[in-house]
Amino acid sequence: MNDMFDDWEPFYAATSGNPVRALCLEAIRTAGDPRGRLALDLGAGAGRETAALLAAGWHVIALDGAPGAHLRIEASAPPEDRARLTVTEQSFGSLDRLPRAGLVYAGYALPFQRPDTFARTWSLIRAALEPGALLAVNLFGPRDTWAADPAITTHTLAEARALLDGLEIVALREEEREGHAVGGPKHWHVLDLVARA
Ligand SMILES: C[S@@+](CC[C@H](N)C(=O)[O-])C[C@H]1O[C@@H](n2cnc3c(N)ncnc32)[C@H](O)[C@@H]1O
Repeated sequence: MNDMFDDWEPFYAATSGNPVRALCLEAIRTAGDPRGRLALDLGAGAGRETAALLAAGWHVIALDGAPGAHLRIEASAPPEDRARLTVTEQSFGSLDRLPRAGLVYAGYALPFQRPDTFARTWSLIRAALEPGALLAVNLFGPRDTWAADPAITTHTLAEARALLDGLEIVALREEEREGHAVGGPKHWHVLDLVARA
């Protein structure tokens, strides 16, 4: 975790009523029948998308480095789905492996690590993809307001495409807009990557 973003509680409170992110719903639709397979939700936050993955029938490992992740994410899952949920409270930088999975989702989370850590995390993500697995992640582009923070990793569209080398690209989108984060107004430069192994 980094200094600028070491307290995610205001984010969880401000976004608690938000709908499930469209990229996660797209991932669920595109990945097809879970058939007992495992999904990873990396940087799972308050667990909203974890709950959606569980509801779609996936077994889910939800990983988040912020303190309290266990309680927060477990609370987001209905009791009948909890047997298919494992919560891991760990930062990306401390990972040395990820389990093989049929779906890897990371919403607005992977940019919050330094470039060298990002590179390590990305290689673990690529190694975790089973044949046919779906990958759906957001990255930040270089014109995002937060890009100047050395603890953030950004990617141009070309760099994002290179990260998907060897995968079938299902969608690669770039969006720029003026908007808000919990801390105030900001320019969002966000990339959506959806790919199949
Ligand atoms: C902007 S929130 C996104 C949460 C959720 N995925 C969503 O789309 O709303 C980023 C989440 O990633 C987690 N996170 C940020 N940096 C991380 C890191 N280096 N290792 C593990 N988790 C991290 C934070 O704790 C936070 O819950």
